Amino acid sequence: MNALFKRRSIRKYIDKEVSDADLELLLKAAMCAPSAGNEQPWEFIVVRDREIMKRVSEFHPYSKMLHQASAAIVVCGNRSRQVYDRDYWQLDCSAATQNILIQATDMKIGSVWLAVYPEPDRIKGAKKLFGLPEEVIPLAIVSLGYPQEEKKMADRFKQERIHYNIWGGKKGME
Ligand SMILES: Cc1cc2nc3c(=O)[nH]c(=O)nc-3n(C[C@H](O)[C@H](O)[C@H](O)COP(=O)(O)O)c2cc1C
Repeated sequence: MNALFKRRSIRKYIDKEVSDADLELLLKAAMCAPSAGNEQPWEFIVVRDREIMKRVSEFHPYSKMLHQASAAIVVCGNRSRQVYDRDYWQLDCSAATQNILIQATDMKIGSVWLAVYPEPDRIKGAKKLFGLPEEVIPLAIVSLGYPQEEKKMADRFKQERIHYNIWGGKKGME
C-alpha cells in the first residue's frame, strides 16, 4: 500500500531529530508539485528553533504539537512569482504541502498540516513571527517528527459522492 493511503495526521512525537538531509528530501517533494502555468510560487521556511515553534501557539490555537516537533516547514505563497493575475498560489502551495505529507509518510516521519491561510489572525501572526515580506503569504505550517502514536489507515471512500456523467448519474448509466 503506498504512502498516500497510509498518511494520517501525527501530533505526538518521540525525541528524535529529523535530519537536515530528510528535510531536504521533503522540500524536493514539495517542489515536485504541479502548479498553474508551472508558476511555482512557493517559498519555504524551515524552522528548527524551539522558541519560534512554541510562539506559533500565540496566534494559532491548534498548534501545540509544535512544542514537541523536531522541525516545521512553513509553506508560503509569493504573489510576485505568479504568472497569471489571478490567485492560484493557494492551490499550488496546497499541492506542495500535500506532497510534503505524503513524502514524510513514506519516510516514516509523522506530519500534520496546520492551516494558516485563510485565517486573518494566523496570517498576521505568522507574517510577524517569520518576518515575511508583504507579497509573501503563509499558507500552512507542517509539523514534523518521528511518531509517538500509531494511526490506522482511514477508509473514507464513499461511492455516493461519485456522480457519473452528470450530477446524480449512476454507474452503468453511461
Ligand atoms: C487545510 C487543513 C488545515 C488543517 N489545520 C489543522 C490545524 O490547524 N491543526 C491540526 O491539528 N490539524 C489540522 N489539520 C489536520 C486535519 O485535522 C486532519 O487532516 C483531519 O482531521 C483528517 O485526519 P488525518 O489527517 O489523520 O487523515 C488540517 C488539515 C487540512 C487539510
